[in-house]
Parts: sequence; structure tokens; C-alpha cells
Amino acid sequence: MSKKIFEPIEIKGMKLKNRLGFAPFLNMPAAADGYVNDLTVKWFEDRAKGGTALIMTGAVVAGPAPDPTFTAMLGMDWVGLFDDKYIPGFARIAEAVHAHGAKLGIQLTGSAGPMLGKGPSLPPYPDEEHATDHLIKVLLGFDMPITEVTVEEIEQVEQYIADASARAKAAGVDCVELHCAHGGATFHNAFLSPYYNRRTDRYGGDWEGRLRLLVETVQKMRAAVGEDYPILVRLSSDQLVGERGVTLRDTTDIIVPALEAAGVDCFDISQGDMIRSNEGILIPLYYPRGCFMDMTAEVKKATKLPVIGVGRIVDLDMADRLLEEGKADIIFMGRQLTADPETPKKYLEGRPEDIRVCIGCMDGCGPCAINYEIHRGADAPVPADKPKKVLVIGGGIAGMEAARVAALRGHRTTLMENASKLGGILSALALSSMNSEFGNFVQYLTTQLKKLKVDVRLGKAITAADVEALAPDVVILATGSSMLIPKAARGKRGVMNHVQAVTRKDEIGKKVVIWGLIAADLAISLAQEGKDVTIMGEGGIDTLAKPYPIGRKWYILRKLTDIRVPRAVPEAARMSNPEVLCDVKVEEITEEGIHVVDKDGGKRLLAYDTLIASGRNKASDTMFKELQGKAWEVYRIGDCIRPANIKTSVVEANEVARRI
Ligand SMILES: Cc1cc2nc3c(=O)[nH]c(=O)nc-3n(C[C@H](O)[C@H](O)[C@H](O)COP(=O)(O)O)c2cc1C
Repeated sequence: MSKKIFEPIEIKGMKLKNRLGFAPFLNMPAAADGYVNDLTVKWFEDRAKGGTALIMTGAVVAGPAPDPTFTAMLGMDWVGLFDDKYIPGFARIAEAVHAHGAKLGIQLTGSAGPMLGKGPSLPPYPDEEHATDHLIKVLLGFDMPITEVTVEEIEQVEQYIADASARAKAAGVDCVELHCAHGGATFHNAFLSPYYNRRTDRYGGDWEGRLRLLVETVQKMRAAVGEDYPILVRLSSDQLVGERGVTLRDTTDIIVPALEAAGVDCFDISQGDMIRSNEGILIPLYYPRGCFMDMTAEVKKATKLPVIGVGRIVDLDMADRLLEEGKADIIFMGRQLTADPETPKKYLEGRPEDIRVCIGCMDGCGPCAINYEIHRGADAPVPADKPKKVLVIGGGIAGMEAARVAALRGHRTTLMENASKLGGILSALALSSMNSEFGNFVQYLTTQLKKLKVDVRLGKAITAADVEALAPDVVILATGSSMLIPKAARGKRGVMNHVQAVTRKDEIGKKVVIWGLIAADLAISLAQEGKDVTIMGEGGIDTLAKPYPIGRKWYILRKLTDIRVPRAVPEAARMSNPEVLCDVKVEEITEEGIHVVDKDGGKRLLAYDTLIASGRNKASDTMFKELQGKAWEVYRIGDCIRPANIKTSVVEANEVARRI
């Protein structure tokens, strides 16, 4: 295939067979105490097997060992390289990756920076008065005390990185990358940034001072690995906290030239500041694909060295276009290669329709919501010992995934759905502009069911008698749930539930009240479409978008609340419409509108054209009760047990379909 993405490229003598790489991803599985285990090897090998040329590890701890209380609190595995005892583990990964013609890089980080309690200078930071809420506080509910590091500690971190680089080379790893991106998340980026660094010693002050740690580290890395070994640096092209932080201009005019002079071989360009807004790092489905690549293109103009671009790139046609346009030399993908490690291989084989395209849901991204196999160490489904006649009832994503896996295993599979189309609630939610990426998964499953020749029967309500007539060996019930309208709203004018609101958009009037703080993304979508929206509910502000994964919730909070984070880019701007009303109770609904009372007894009448009720679901489980005591194996999965998100539905579907 004559595509730019499949052209080879070299970084300081490291030959890459194509221009696709796996972005650094912290969520790699590992054994206790930072050791590589079989799962870690598989995590990287799967990407290499799938055709990606450069596999970068997530941030590996060059030293010192992380605080165990903190890692336990975050519930994350970590991988270390601050001792020779870790070399054999990386040698295993390198061997596995090389067996598939790919190269391995290790991303190195020293002490983790202000996010985890070590900074160049003490807070308050420049905009502390308005930017006090940060990721760790939102995630854990408390502030991490920050200590100012000494010159001895700085020199020690430089040495840690240099020693770990030498260990990487000794393990047969092909390159190292210094993590100097994401603002306060990394030691090196924090030193670079005037936002965090107000030191007056030689590691602070002007650009020369703030660059010193980075430049000295690169020089010590070079001394440790020799002249011919590739050293990459990951930068945030712009910290996205405005003029107080590192700007794109600083990167192109000052930082890139300084690093070139220090001996760096390639720039990996990300953006943002993890603790102050995580704009540009955790990029949920609400952003357009590839939306940060114009910044990378500016860096590319500033250097002759290879430049890597990243950020919500899930489509290899787009990746190819970005390379053709000269915006980058290599494209890194993180979540797409988690949703489907075989993305390059399938594309190269001319079957892009088989690619499971990332939906940007941000639900884990280690244990991916739509890819059961990743991280759990599960292999592809194996053929069943004895093919059975399997009936799946319900064509939402739980039922579709169960039918896909059952059919892959050789079971004769029928899927029945009483609606006229597949996809259930997820395909309805995908109709809202904010959530259109959800449709990727429905489309993938629909295609796979067709290819696997699953007998899909739509548009007919199914009864226990129909099931009996079909005489299946196994019945998998995935009958989902129905959305309820609260009693006070039933029979009133202009009332819809959430699914009706997205499937019958034309009926929505100008003035919209959403009853249910969970529907925050619908509120934003409707406001963006020109409606006057109020979203309200009984819970406090902490219940707004409560069950959303943090990467999405953070975006919603920036849009709809006064959470005090920098809003340097327009995408993060606070919206005045929708209005958010927390802690209110509905008293009654009349012809005039919905009458609410707040916790201080204050009353308000919210006039509406359309009232949308969201957040109340009832499991549709009558069929399960009817089938009890019959001869077949009967299983239930997904929403028909209790409200289930995408990940739970996919896990349950796989666990049943791999067992039968
Ligand atoms: C779960 C998760 C873990 C990440 N871990 C790291 C990391 O260890 N180091 C790093 O530089 N970036 C990390 N990132 C950022 C990614 O490398 C990448 O820049 C980001 O996910 C955008 O790319 P994508 O849209 O292709 O996923 C992480 C992102 C996610 C979602």
C-alpha cells in the first residue's frame, strides 16, 4: 500500500518500518514493586504484532521508587528501572517486540513533579487565586503537600535518568524518551515552566536557568548511552495555561533549539498540563479528531529533526493525511491501539471495517471499555469444544458483543431484537453531537455480526413461546433497560425521556429543562445547537455527570461549573448556557412549567417547551423470569441486570460468551 504512514523512517540510525507508534501509556500492567510480568510483555507485544513500528512504554520510574501509599491510592501499577534488577524484564519486552519487526522505546521520568508532591518552587502558583482545583484534588479529594527540591535532589534525578537510559540500552531497548511534558505531572516540565519554577538559583530565573535541568539531563543521558543511540524528548508544545506557562512560541523559538544543541534526536509533541486542566492530554470524545496537530505542525517548522504528533488520531486515513501535509513525521496513537492493537495490520490488509475504532469514552484505557482482551491478558476467543445453538435476545451492545464472541467460537448464533435497528441505548446516545463517536462501536459490531453470519432478526417482540420453538441450547438475555419518566412528569405536555430526546430531536422546543444531573453532555449538546437549556436535579454539584470517567467529567466540570482551572483555550471556556441548578426538588409541574424549590426554601418556576427526564432506568428483565426453570442454559448480561455502562456490558458479554 503506497501510503506515507507505511514509509520507513530513521531516528538516529533506528530504522522504523513505518511511521506509526504506540504513545506512552502509564496504564501498563506490572507485577508488585515495579517488575515486568507476562502481562506487561503481552501488552507491548500485542501492539508490535498488530503492525505498529515504534512501541513506547508509558512513564517508567527512573527513580526514586514511588511512594507506595500514593500508588495504592491511585490504584495503578507502575514499572521501574532504577536498579539493574529490572533489566531482564525489559530485555523480555524488547525480544518480544523485535520478533515482530518493531522497535521499543522507554519513556523515563524522574521524580514525578508537583502533581505528586515535588516541585521546583512552592505554591502558590501564579494563578492560584483562581486555579485552585486540580486533578489530584478532584480525583482524591485532597491537596498533595508540595516540597521544594534541593540542588542535590535535582542532580540525583539527572543521574537517575542517565543510569536508567544505560540500563535501557543494556536491555536491548532501541531508544529512550525523556518525559518533559504535561506541566506539573513531570519534574522536567515543571522546571521548564515559569508557572511552577520561581527559583532564584541556577535551576530557575531566566530561560537558561529553567532549561538547565533538561539540558544537563540530556547531556548525561548522552554520556550514558553513547553517540549513536536515539534520545527522544516528549514536550508539551503549549502548557495551555496562557502566558504564565510555556507557550507554543517558547517551544518553537527557545526550547526546541536548545534541545537540538544538547543532542536530542527526535521530538514527541504532546500538549497541556496534567494537574491544572489536563486539556490536551486526556482528550475525550467531545474533541474533534487530531485537534492538536496544528501545534505539532508549528514545532515541525522549527526543526529538521523528526517530529511525532499525537492526540485523538484514530483513523489511519487521517494519520496519513497529517503526514502528507507535513504536520509530523510519525504519528503516535494511544487509545486507538488499546481499542484495537491490530489497527495498522487490518488497515494494511485492506479491511479497515474490521478496526474497532476508539470511542474516546476515557473509561480506563488500560482495561479498555470496548476491548475485553487488552490488559486482562485474555487471548482471542478459542473455538468451542462443542458448537451449540445460541440465542441472544437483545441487540444493544451487550447482546451484540455476546453474539460476536459466540459466533467467533463457532456457535450457531441467532440474535433477536424487538427494535428495528441494532445498538440499543448507545446507538441512540450517539445521535447527540457530543457523543457521535459512540457510534464507532455499534458500527464495528454490526459489521462483525454480518461477517460472522449471525442470524440477526429485527423488529419482532419475542416471547417465551418463541424461545421454546427455537429450542436453543443456550439463551443469553441482553434485554437492556427502559428509561422511566418520574411520576410528577407523566402525562404532562412536552415531556420526553433521554433516548426520545436524541431520537426525536425535531420535537424539542427552544426552552429545554433537563431533569437529571447525569445528562450533562446532552445539556451541552443542546445548548450548542441553540437551545436555552437548564439542567437540574436533587443532588449537589458533586452529582453533576457523576458516573462519567474522570477524563470526560473534567471537561464537563470546566464547561458547566466554576471549577477553578485555567481556561486558556476556547474549548475549555465556561458556558453560560446551560444553567445548572443543583440541590433542587420538583414540587409540581403545571401548564406554566416546572416548579422547583432549592435547599433554602427558595422557589422558582422554570418555563419549558420540552422537559427531558434522564437518569432513571428500569431493568427489562421479565423474559428472564419467564424462562426460569426451562431446560436451557440461561444467562443475563448488561443493563437487564441493573444499569450497566459500556465496559460492564462488554465484560459480561465476553465472560458468558467465552464460557458457553
Ligand atoms: C490512560 C492514559 C495514560 C497515559 N500515560 C501517559 C504517560 O505515561 N506518559 C505520557 O507522556 N503520556 C501519557 N498519556 C498521554 C498519551 O500518550 C497521549 O498523548 C494521549 O492519550 C492522546 O493520544 P490518543 O488520543 O492517541 O490516546 C496517557 C494517556 C492516557 C489516556
